[in-house]
Amino acid sequence: MKGIILAGGANTRLHPVTNVVSKQLLPVYDKPMVYYPLSLLMLAGIREILVISTPRDTPKFEALLGDGSSLGLHFEYAVQERPAGIADAFRVGRSFVNGEACALVLGDNILYGHSLPEMLQRASAIKEGAVVFGYEVHDPERFGIVEIGPDKRAISLEEKPTAPKSPWAVIGLYFYDHQVCDVAADLAPSARGEVEITDVNRWYLEKGLLTVEQLGRGIAWLDGGTFDSLHEAAEYVRILQTRQNWRISCVEEIAYRMGFIDLEQLRKNGERLAKSDYGQYVLDLANGESEGGR
Ligand code: G1P
Repeated sequence: MKGIILAGGANTRLHPVTNVVSKQLLPVYDKPMVYYPLSLLMLAGIREILVISTPRDTPKFEALLGDGSSLGLHFEYAVQERPAGIADAFRVGRSFVNGEACALVLGDNILYGHSLPEMLQRASAIKEGAVVFGYEVHDPERFGIVEIGPDKRAISLEEKPTAPKSPWAVIGLYFYDHQVCDVAADLAPSARGEVEITDVNRWYLEKGLLTVEQLGRGIAWLDGGTFDSLHEAAEYVRILQTRQNWRISCVEEIAYRMGFIDLEQLRKNGERLAKSDYGQYVLDLANGESEGGR
């Protein structure tokens, strides 16, 4: 399965900062925001990843992430000329996807919690249909909302409903079979002039092929769309990391634990960053592993 990170958008709610840099490159405590969604794809076992951003910011993502080889990954980059909707990722990324199954994650979605890796690996193993993730929210009018029936099947989907039929928001992480680019190619734009991911999901729903994984109480879903939510996400990460001494979404650690890179590469990655606490963590991990690990 392939993966796409969509990190575009004007992000006007973060002006003036986002006048010069993409939201998904801003720090969430000790690492760029894009590391969090990247780590979700990695935990799902996905190694071929396309990063889509704006004409202004795509070169910056490339400068940050490179070709992916230091993480045992393969990154490609593509430009979205204007914000044309989430489903547009499968138009921009069509040649990258090349008729295979593909996951999509929004570049500002931060997910953390127990049992997440197993859930992600289950989703990436689908052969037919699509898997989305539901999160119970108190303000369903702000999201794509799904009603869930028996056997995790989706019953209805609505984008930002005025009278929501359920409290389950569809988060920005989606797993699709090989049909997804054809589905996205045929969509008409919505009233807001975008090709909606909810319409892609509805196509699968109508065929009885849309599964919803419900994210329970133990899982945090955060984003950094406003200064307050950015600050809160950073504080959440800082508190957990300080208390437990594990880093959240440390992509070097995940690459090592997933078997994408060996100990020598892990150490090299740590040495390159060793002047920051983040890099020191990677280096300490490499040293600890050569003595038998934690
Ligand atoms: C988008 C999707 C929506 C989803 C949300 C998750 O909304 O359209 O279905 O629930 O992301 O963050 P947007 O952020 O484009 O308003």
